[in-house]
Amino acid sequence: MKSSGKLAGKVAWISGATSGIGEATARLFVQEGASVVLIGRRQSLSRALAKELNTSEKRACAVACDVSKETDVCNSIRATIRNFGRLDVLINNAGMVHVKMLHEYTEAEWDQVMNVNLKSMFFSLKHGLRHLRKAGDGTIVNVGSISSFVGQAQTPVYTTTKHAILGLTKSIALDYAADNIRCNCICPGITDTPMLREHLNSQPDPDAALAQRLRRVPLGIALTPLNVAQSILFLACPDSSGITGTSVVIDAGYTTAAEWDCQPT
Ligand SMILES: NC(=O)c1ccc[n+]([C@@H]2O[C@H](COP(=O)([O-])OP(=O)(O)OC[C@H]3O[C@@H](n4cnc5c(N)ncnc54)[C@H](O)[C@@H]3O)[C@@H](O)[C@H]2O)c1
Repeated sequence: MKSSGKLAGKVAWISGATSGIGEATARLFVQEGASVVLIGRRQSLSRALAKELNTSEKRACAVACDVSKETDVCNSIRATIRNFGRLDVLINNAGMVHVKMLHEYTEAEWDQVMNVNLKSMFFSLKHGLRHLRKAGDGTIVNVGSISSFVGQAQTPVYTTTKHAILGLTKSIALDYAADNIRCNCICPGITDTPMLREHLNSQPDPDAALAQRLRRVPLGIALTPLNVAQSILFLACPDSSGITGTSVVIDAGYTTAAEWDCQPT
């Protein structure tokens, strides 16, 4: 794909960068001229991706980090500054889901989803904001979901975190606007990533389960991780100057209709 250098010279911290939307974002950002810090727990994967992205010059570094642990996140921001000297873009993408009814949750499971999806953003913002201030035109993209707006079956804690991310996004946008920091939320619909596949594979017939879900999507498609990464790029780069505190929904029309059933042609 052709690059127009939309992030030339910028440094981006990307959580959950070893798969799915995070990985696609890291690849696209490097193509657009950024250096990226690949944040993830699975260091063999992040190292392999960094190696692939570091062709003629160092453009990626892998940092082992559990985003639900403040010390890890704090150290990962330090590693960003140590490796690349600055921080311009923060992508809060790491996430997880348990699919079950609320009464089946243990307290530990509730805390795990809250911490990975939401508290992790408090940690990265707490430790990253002073560097974004220094950058002069810092951007933050938080990854929400269509579950930021509507409920979905058997994902009560996930849905709670994704709704909360909208509130956090607005608060950060207001409080740091004076520092010329923009903060927005991207809200994807059904996207073909390992998270989706794991869920589908727990169904008796994964292909049928996907087809069933896609019948409710007006465009009738699952998004690719690159589709979502391109919208994240838009919110992270100067193309979206003037946009802050809002959310961009990329869902192939899923949340547009109260009722929809794609008729086979
Ligand atoms: N796939 C979809 O249909 C869809 C739809 C809406 C929103 N999203 C959101 O997109 C984001 C990315 O998910 P994805 O679909 O690419 O799935 P994915 O499973 O490929 O990516 C999630 C990433 O987060 C990482 N992660 C999980 N817990 C972590 C922790 N404690 N510390 C560090 N990293 C951790 C995982 O290792 C993985 O790399 C998530 O926030 C998810 O909620 C996905």
